[in-house]
Amino acid sequence: MTDKRRSIHGSWSSRLAFVLAATGSAVGLGNIWKFPYITGEHGGGAFVIVYLVCIAIIGIPIMMAEVMLGRRGRQSPINTMLTLAREAGADARWSWLGWSGVAAGFLILSYYSVIAGWALAYVFRAMSGTFSGATAEGVSSVFEQLTGDPERLLAWHTIFMVMTMMVVARGVRGGLEQAVRFLVPALFVLLLLLDGYAMASGAFDQGLKFLFTPDFTRIDANGVLIAMGHAFFTLSLGMGAIMVYGSYLPERASIAKTSIIIAVLDTVVALLAGMAIFPIVFANGLEPGAGPGLIFQTLPIAFGHMTGGLVFGTLFFVLLVFAAWTSSISLIEPAVAWLVENRGVTRVHASMYAGITAWAFGLLSILSFNRWADFKPLSFIPIFADATVFKLLDYLTANIMLPLGGLCIAIFSVWVMKRDDSLQELDIGDGAGYRLWYTLVRYVTPVAVIIVFLNVTGLVDFSGLLGLAE
Ligand code: PHE
Repeated sequence: MTDKRRSIHGSWSSRLAFVLAATGSAVGLGNIWKFPYITGEHGGGAFVIVYLVCIAIIGIPIMMAEVMLGRRGRQSPINTMLTLAREAGADARWSWLGWSGVAAGFLILSYYSVIAGWALAYVFRAMSGTFSGATAEGVSSVFEQLTGDPERLLAWHTIFMVMTMMVVARGVRGGLEQAVRFLVPALFVLLLLLDGYAMASGAFDQGLKFLFTPDFTRIDANGVLIAMGHAFFTLSLGMGAIMVYGSYLPERASIAKTSIIIAVLDTVVALLAGMAIFPIVFANGLEPGAGPGLIFQTLPIAFGHMTGGLVFGTLFFVLLVFAAWTSSISLIEPAVAWLVENRGVTRVHASMYAGITAWAFGLLSILSFNRWADFKPLSFIPIFADATVFKLLDYLTANIMLPLGGLCIAIFSVWVMKRDDSLQELDIGDGAGYRLWYTLVRYVTPVAVIIVFLNVTGLVDFSGLLGLAE
């Protein structure tokens, strides 16, 4: 019965197409913009280790679970969860998991598009030679001018959101597959080039040391949660993006292999970005904990001084925009698929409704960088003392909603769904591989997520045990 289920939205043309699309979703601002700046804010090496461990023992297994649920349900995450819950004789409220994913997708896209707007703005700055010979101060003032002006931010945010709606409106195969095919390799080449520059910049060793020498006294419980949340964020997990992409996956494709490939590519891109950025930070006496502006205040210095920097700089920001673009479309795909299934609207209309909703929320983030820069709504909670609305949105989605979504996905896949069904859908035989997955999803993910949550809320304190900072 379940083998016959088909998606009404079409399907990827091949397994490769799925790998490309899912890699496109995973590789984005999370790798190049967010990973370096949160690593810088949380002391480097120890944060990186926690993040890598989370990718390996939580990220990959949850990715497999999401793809599996999606392919079995073949609908938007909301309806997939409903169908699979019925099939397992479980409560229909499992579909709430789909709803919370849709909500997370809107909230993430709302600020994601604002940051992608910065990248768009930088394409033109790089192209017009703004960075030639620039100093650290010069580059910082370019950044401050941009983020200090809400109207400019709004314009770029709007352009990016329209770009997103356009691709989503065209559907599963249109354009997207091609874009990623070229994007990922090109991004690799450019990052390698930047790493080459960083190597020559004089502080490569210091940068590597910062990234790869763990000092657990420099990370606290909140830092551990942020590293774990980032593992979900960077792999697009916990909100249904990968589930909905899985629902377009052809029958005979190995879920395990593809998940590992995607996670490895994603991680390599993040590490390459970190290896390019931190040497530049140290060589120029900048602050690793500078925050969300980090890459926009460091990489232009490199472009301003290397031969061919004008071309490479422009190309880099173009690629960054593309990377963000192939991610942003996956953020609203769950909502769009649901609108098409349940409200009978066309994809074009569904994309418009979803895009406009996320666009409107984006205003909150835009203002956070200027007019509301001093508005810290939750400053009475110590970890949010300095958090603007933008920071809070990011925290709520990446560090709370996605891990919670992941936790529910884990529980559903191995506690609610029948073992035979996951065994059949994953199709790797009942050997060591399947058992490892089963154990990780059944015990390790839930326990890890719950411990990290409890630790941050202060209900339980393991910090001393792990030698973390208080
Ligand atoms: N993984 C994307 C990135 O790293 C962001 C994203 C999160 C996309 C969640 C989809 C779902 O940029």
